[in-house]
Amino acid sequence: MQLSRLIQDLPPYHFADAKKRIAERRAAGVDVISLSMGDPDLPAPQAVIDRLCSALQNPENTRYPEYAGMRALHEAIAAWFERRFAVRLTPEHDILPLLGSKEGLVYSAAAVLNAGDISLIPDPYYPVYITASTSVGAEPYMLPLVEENGYLPELDKIPQDVLAKSRLLWLNYPNNPTAACANRRFFEEVVAFAQRHNLAIIHDMAYAEVYFDDFRPMSILQIPGASEVAVELHSLSKTYNMAGFRVGMAVGNAELVEAVSRLKSNIDSGMFRPVQYAAIEALQLPVSWIEQRNAIYRQRRDVLVAGCNAIGMRTQTPGAGLYVWAAVPRGFTSRDFANWLFDKTGVFVTPGTNFGDAGEGYVRISLTVPEERIEAALQRMKTALAG
Ligand SMILES: Cc1ncc(COP(=O)(O)O)c(C=O)c1O
Repeated sequence: MQLSRLIQDLPPYHFADAKKRIAERRAAGVDVISLSMGDPDLPAPQAVIDRLCSALQNPENTRYPEYAGMRALHEAIAAWFERRFAVRLTPEHDILPLLGSKEGLVYSAAAVLNAGDISLIPDPYYPVYITASTSVGAEPYMLPLVEENGYLPELDKIPQDVLAKSRLLWLNYPNNPTAACANRRFFEEVVAFAQRHNLAIIHDMAYAEVYFDDFRPMSILQIPGASEVAVELHSLSKTYNMAGFRVGMAVGNAELVEAVSRLKSNIDSGMFRPVQYAAIEALQLPVSWIEQRNAIYRQRRDVLVAGCNAIGMRTQTPGAGLYVWAAVPRGFTSRDFANWLFDKTGVFVTPGTNFGDAGEGYVRISLTVPEERIEAALQRMKTALAG
């Protein structure tokens, strides 16, 4: 079989590979502590499970669902968005439910990029941005994110000839993997930049609802004029511990939302109706549900940040997101450290370079295990580093 160049150049998806390595070690009797994936360990809300089960009883709900989702789901998303961000979306034009936000990233990129276009990707990045760009023949151009600059891209450093060929700018705040957050000023600048240079923006906001203390991540759509250039992707995966349900949504620029809907309906089908009812239930939960859940993550974050800093893995306290981005101990590369740590202790963390060259010198550590497992992992790391 002669496979396409796209497939020949495509590495295995890191987390598929990681799951395999973890399973092998567990089968060999190792007590692996996986701080690798951002896969919420806490349960989905009970009201959501109950709604899913009751909706399953109705035979109408097991037929092909509507391609673009039920009107009631569009309305629930619009109501949630207005409550959360004070932005009014038109349910039928500005919103498209998705089978998780990951597919929305790929479809949105395909809706704006042509072969030969440049796709501007902040580095480190969620790896899907690369595949979404290269699979349609576009060329990624990396915008390094550095600690000194708060992990925000420096738009004025993009060369003019690159800008002239650029069609798309990716953004992701709260950021995976660096845990950085962006403020209003940044979003204002970036919207004006996109308008000036005729760029589309895909703002990936998968971590919108995992926030700590007084911080509340903002939507790019809160910026006047943003809906002329931007689509924003949201997800119930981290928001309501519903990763396995596969519920996300694209919101924002109506032309782009319609384009994604057209492309998607030609490739896959709509969301299973019981899942749509469950999603509506989730979106109607009081904000106290989110706050109580986030208090658990905040406690884990505090233990992990203090523990990393105490063993010489410098890190900052994130204001949002599911990760701590920690500097690797002196003398290691990111990958060497992650491999060494896994072999020696069974603690699995993700090398920063899995998210691009600019991730060198860091590892990403996830908050999706109970506090006592984080403490156990830190203890093992401390002992290994001391030996
Ligand atoms: C930055 C980012 N975007 C998007 C996703 C995809 O989330 P989902 O497809 O579950 O909505 C993830 C998942 O980890 C992510 O980290």
